[in-house]
Amino acid sequence: MKFYNKKFAEAYDKRLTEEGYPGRLLKVVCGQLEGYERVIDVGAGSGLFTVPLARNGHHVVAIEPSPHMIRLLRRKLDSEIRPRVTTVQSTWEEADIPAGDAVICIHAVYPMKDLSAALLKMRDAAPLRMVLVRNEAEMDTISDRIREEFSSDRCGSDYLAQVRSVLSGNGIPYKELLVHEQREIFFHDLYKEAENYCGHLDIDPAKVKEVARLIEGQCEYDGNVYRFTSFLSDIIFHY
Ligand SMILES: C[S@@+](CC[C@H](N)C(=O)[O-])C[C@H]1O[C@@H](n2cnc3c(N)ncnc32)[C@H](O)[C@@H]1O
Repeated sequence: MKFYNKKFAEAYDKRLTEEGYPGRLLKVVCGQLEGYERVIDVGAGSGLFTVPLARNGHHVVAIEPSPHMIRLLRRKLDSEIRPRVTTVQSTWEEADIPAGDAVICIHAVYPMKDLSAALLKMRDAAPLRMVLVRNEAEMDTISDRIREEFSSDRCGSDYLAQVRSVLSGNGIPYKELLVHEQREIFFHDLYKEAENYCGHLDIDPAKVKEVARLIEGQCEYDGNVYRFTSFLSDIIFHY
């Protein structure tokens, strides 16, 4: 898994932070978690939800298997929030932790081998469960446009269907909350950007020039800065 690679983990955290992730999603998730003190963050990554949730006063148990992602997360814990965050280096499937008040699992079901077992374990872990999955059909990002051209990896393409099928197949009632966001992406160095996307999307670095040309064709350029407007769309399953 890419997240076990140190360079990938660092580049992922840097890129998402620069792009303004989690953006509007954070507000939505925080709103839903109001009144829920102990939050289990499944696949917490580099802490892009764990940290602000702890800052908001929640006690967060961050479950994350990648040593590099969890190191990035731990580095963000200052003296104010450290007492409210417990990090557990483990997959969700293997984690042995006490129940909480809420579970969140944000863009982290994709690598799980047994989705059904994972979702059922979340159901038993807390009274409120929120699982967030990309709504691929309505997304439009530079990554998506590059993937269409260069890569067969379509992250999350039928995860919505799989989550629906597991929940309804187990007779578990659920609600779906659609979250859309438009985000402006800016960058100066086209080739650096192309190199980053090649690493991120596992594209042969020999294709960097072609990737750069594609990105250039998708962006507005004012002679100094490239600009692209991304459309992000996710669905939060409440069950
Ligand atoms: C796309 S990142 C999302 C991180 C974070 N939730 C966020 O939104 O910033 C997915 C994370 O899930 C983690 N992950 C992969 N397999 C997992 C598993 N079986 N159980 C828990 N987390 C897992 C990865 O290491 C990675 O850090």
